[in-house]
Amino acid sequence: MTDRPNVLVTRPIMDAPLARLRERCDVTVHENDFGIPRDELLHVVAGRDAIVTMLTEKVDAEFLAAAGPQLRIVANHAVGFDNVDVAACTDASVLATNTPDVLTETTADTAFALLMAAARRVGEGERFLRAGTPWIWGPLMMLGQDVHHKTIGIVGFGRIGQAVARRAKGFGMRVAYNDAVNLPAEVEAETGAERLDLDDLLAQADFISIHTNLTPETRHLFGAEAFRAMKPTAVVVNTSRGPVVDEQALADALEAGEIFAAGLDVFEREPEVEARLLGLENVVVIPHLGSATVDTRNAMGDVVVDNLFAAFDGARPPTLLNPDAFGG
Ligand code: DGY
Repeated sequence: MTDRPNVLVTRPIMDAPLARLRERCDVTVHENDFGIPRDELLHVVAGRDAIVTMLTEKVDAEFLAAAGPQLRIVANHAVGFDNVDVAACTDASVLATNTPDVLTETTADTAFALLMAAARRVGEGERFLRAGTPWIWGPLMMLGQDVHHKTIGIVGFGRIGQAVARRAKGFGMRVAYNDAVNLPAEVEAETGAERLDLDDLLAQADFISIHTNLTPETRHLFGAEAFRAMKPTAVVVNTSRGPVVDEQALADALEAGEIFAAGLDVFEREPEVEARLLGLENVVVIPHLGSATVDTRNAMGDVVVDNLFAAFDGARPPTLLNPDAFGG
């Protein structure tokens, strides 16, 4: 590696972390509104010392081979890293990193915003007014579901799930969770959350907020059977990864009144949004904005830069995903 590492950033990031990066490195930012087509990506990664990737790019053996042997680190500008084949990075002696922690509270805010909007029909009410629909206040108009003092079931009780639990407590909610991992008693005590089997959680929760990683086990975890197990008044919120939810089954459940509403930040075939869902009034959709605030995107950019600088200094990157590539 030369004195000034050659870094590719696949989408524009915030100015401040980018300026830090430019102080030490030769940086190419790939300016594009719709992501890099795969064949172009495989071309532009060649010869880089470091690559900053987004969740929209698949980092696999083909990508790593196209980059070449001087590649030291792939820094994913996201906490989720289902787009990164971490084992392939380790095999290629490439460090892989993500951006945990700094986006926890912001993503939990987004989940709660979707939960509130779906429960209280905010999107539908807005569309109604913007369409110029004649109206007058009425006792039966656009009734939603109460949030306060209801039960929330959080599926995937990592950092973001726990941050949602803290918000729910502020609303006087009963908090239940399900997670593949057994959590320490302190976490349950701090969040006031009780562990339930998934079946019990689905049956008891008024709100289900999804925070699992996308893995082969969680793909379509929420399918027809899961929706049938929920209350007809249930509201489902997904701010994790789209494929955890079977969108056709969700549309069926919403159309059939098996559940009340859904709030979605993520989609099965992003950026495509299932047309059946777009046609339903009881769905609130936003375009993967979970961590999209000025402060958080600056913080994510800083984590990316800290990871790159550590790698260039021969130090262990702070949020390393594959310690084996660093020698354990
Ligand atoms: C992440 O970081 O994984 C989010 O989905 C991006 O907002």
